[in-house]
Amino acid sequence: MKRLLLTLLLTFPLAAQAVDLENGQKQARSCALCHGHYGQGTPGPASPRLAGTPAGYMVKQIEAYINEERINPRMVITSSLHSISEQDIDDIAAYYESVNLEKINPVLNRIPEWPGDATRGRELYEGDCKSCHRKNGMGKSRKGIPALALQYPRYLFRQIKMFQWDKRIHDDDPEDETFDELTDRDIEALLAYVSSLAPSNKK
Ligand code: HEC
Ligand code: HEC
Repeated sequence: MKRLLLTLLLTFPLAAQAVDLENGQKQARSCALCHGHYGQGTPGPASPRLAGTPAGYMVKQIEAYINEERINPRMVITSSLHSISEQDIDDIAAYYESVNLEKINPVLNRIPEWPGDATRGRELYEGDCKSCHRKNGMGKSRKGIPALALQYPRYLFRQIKMFQWDKRIHDDDPEDETFDELTDRDIEALLAYVSSLAPSNKK
């Protein structure tokens, strides 16, 4: 019965084909070493959360690592990303998107709040980020926009630095200026606000 329920047919905007969550869960074993048993990640800068993340966004990132647009050779080698099929990648991403950490264990779902000026952060966020990452910080799954409110702030801080240093491209736009003017203090303020949007931190 459970097997039947797990093998769902989902329709995706990018590739309208069946995904196999059971296969995704099996394949995801090679990711657990770094991303945690349920894809919960850890609060440091180098182990992002995958559970609950939009599948379309994850597929695009995995491809970016394979193509070396994002650099992470340890991940590519450890999980043999060059040799797993596109279908397996779709299945893994669909599986992680379906993981509900709050249901498994609310402790795993917690996002640490980042200390910083959340009031200033809110101003910056509502001015420059809200239109894409949404007011509640949950992103837009169909448009491949990640849910910042579900991600660890220390990891996000590092990614924003990567955007500033032109080591990663934000929003598919090499000319993107979103982060050019932000000081480290502004970034901390933004993350203080974004982390307060995490469902586990909503008062
Ligand atoms: C050896 C450790 C390791 C393994 C194994 C690993 N990853 Fe990662 N992964 C990382 C690190 C470190 C990052 C962040 C790197 C960076 O800063 O770009 C990351 C980033 C990601 C991201 C980007 C997240 C985001 O919010 O943009 C995705 C998606 C991802 N991994 C998926 C996977 C999947 C799927 C697997 C298994 C098939 C996997 N990873 C296996 C270490 C690993
Ligand atoms: C025009 C739409 C748009 C706006 C405005 C925007 N973003 Fe993004 N953002 C994106 C997209 C799309 C991605 C996914 C990038 C990719 O595909 O590599 C992204 C990715 C990110 C990531 C990487 C997340 C991860 O898990 O690795 C961070 C951090 C981020 N944005 C922060 C911000 C902040 C902070 C602002 C406001 C100062 C902002 N963005 C404004 C579209 C936008």
